[in-house]
Amino acid sequence: MNTTFKYTANTPAIQPMGYKSAVFFVCLVGALGGLLFGLDQGFIGNSLETIKTVYQLNTDGAEHYSAILATGGILGALLSGIFARILGRKRSLILAGLTFTIASVGSAFLPSLFLLTLARFFLGFGVGVASFVTPLYLSETAPASIRGSMGTLFQLMITIGIFAIALSNVYIVKTFTNPHVSLSLMFLVIAVFAFCMLLGSLFLPESPRWLMLKGREDQARSALNKVLTSAAEINLEINEIKRVIHEEQSSPIRLLMKGTFIKVLLIGVFLQIFQQLVGINVMIYYSPTIFGYADMKGLIGMMAVPTVNMLFTIPAVFLVDKWGRKKLLIVGAIMMGLSMFAAGFAFHHIDQMAGAAVHASDKTMLLTAIIVYIFGFAFSWGPVAWLVCSEIFPLKGREMGMTITTMVNWTFAGLVMRYSLSFMENYGRSTLFYIFSGLSIVAIIFVKFAVPETKRMRLEELEEKLKS
Ligand code: BGC
Repeated sequence: MNTTFKYTANTPAIQPMGYKSAVFFVCLVGALGGLLFGLDQGFIGNSLETIKTVYQLNTDGAEHYSAILATGGILGALLSGIFARILGRKRSLILAGLTFTIASVGSAFLPSLFLLTLARFFLGFGVGVASFVTPLYLSETAPASIRGSMGTLFQLMITIGIFAIALSNVYIVKTFTNPHVSLSLMFLVIAVFAFCMLLGSLFLPESPRWLMLKGREDQARSALNKVLTSAAEINLEINEIKRVIHEEQSSPIRLLMKGTFIKVLLIGVFLQIFQQLVGINVMIYYSPTIFGYADMKGLIGMMAVPTVNMLFTIPAVFLVDKWGRKKLLIVGAIMMGLSMFAAGFAFHHIDQMAGAAVHASDKTMLLTAIIVYIFGFAFSWGPVAWLVCSEIFPLKGREMGMTITTMVNWTFAGLVMRYSLSFMENYGRSTLFYIFSGLSIVAIIFVKFAVPETKRMRLEELEEKLKS
């Protein structure tokens, strides 16, 4: 595939000739990490009733089982920074693949509730590692001119995972009447993809930036040789990485004390906080319940959100390097702000009717609002928050920066999943949607004034820009 390459003011004049096929293998296997993230994130929606039947759980027990994924995710994110630094990016991806495989195969045997819960904790752990290492690996290994698009592949794979598991769980539940058989099959679907990731990651090249950090220049050159086409490009990349490593000699703790690092860290942290506080996982986990409040049960309630989420992540892959990150974030947040306001308004009206049949106009408004909201998230905040977090940190502080921002993402995801249904019961359904709408507006202001544009910059150039 040939590509045009847009020069930034600082980009030395080297014209890439095209991409090697290894680039696509790298991106595909790396993106399988995203797929497993999605399979586990989207698993609960259409399987919870079966789990409740097989394990005789009440709502509380079911919630506990669902939420343990976020706890595993936080631990996975915490340790993955250390894994990525000590073991390297490739072996961390292998570790994630192995964890996914063992935990999903183990769950398919329908062990005791304790072991099943432990397995979900480890699935969360794998997701935490994958959600940290995958964007890091892709951003360090894909050539600069397609780095944005390849980074968004990670998000595309998350949404494909959420969609695929929603669909396959519905299919399994409708086809097999025995809940034990259904549940085993649901876990086996995850196991198949987990095994593919494990197998694929064994053949990946290691990240050249990590190899350089470990002083293995020869290996870094041969890794770059797999993805870049000319010796000039390889030399340029090697020299830039060297220069930055030389300049960034400080230890992680000393780094934390640096003003620039703190500034960049805060940008990443708030991006991840806003990514969750605009309410995405309320839709991913509870959209069937929310549509149910408005008398919209059945296939639309089960499949609308995962389908729209997946379809509208596709434009992001192309737009992220064309429009740039900031524009996408701002346009997406405007769409989310307006649509959440409309959803709040629809619920306000539904609640005023107190018990009467829900008006068709309210149903249409709610459905449209949620579809527009998911559209707005899918082509912007979904991919771009992760992408920017993988791009803004200086090389020496990248693992620490991404560990912290990934943990923040999981913590706020967990909070939203844990409390939003009861919040709606206690404070009114429209209130929660109005809050999400307000937070989307705050997110716009934050992006406008605090987030740097990272489109088509070499990671090293970006470090220079952020320092100044
Ligand atoms: C978020 C997840 C969310 C998913 C939905 C990701 O970017 O981090 O929390 O479930 O998008 O597609």
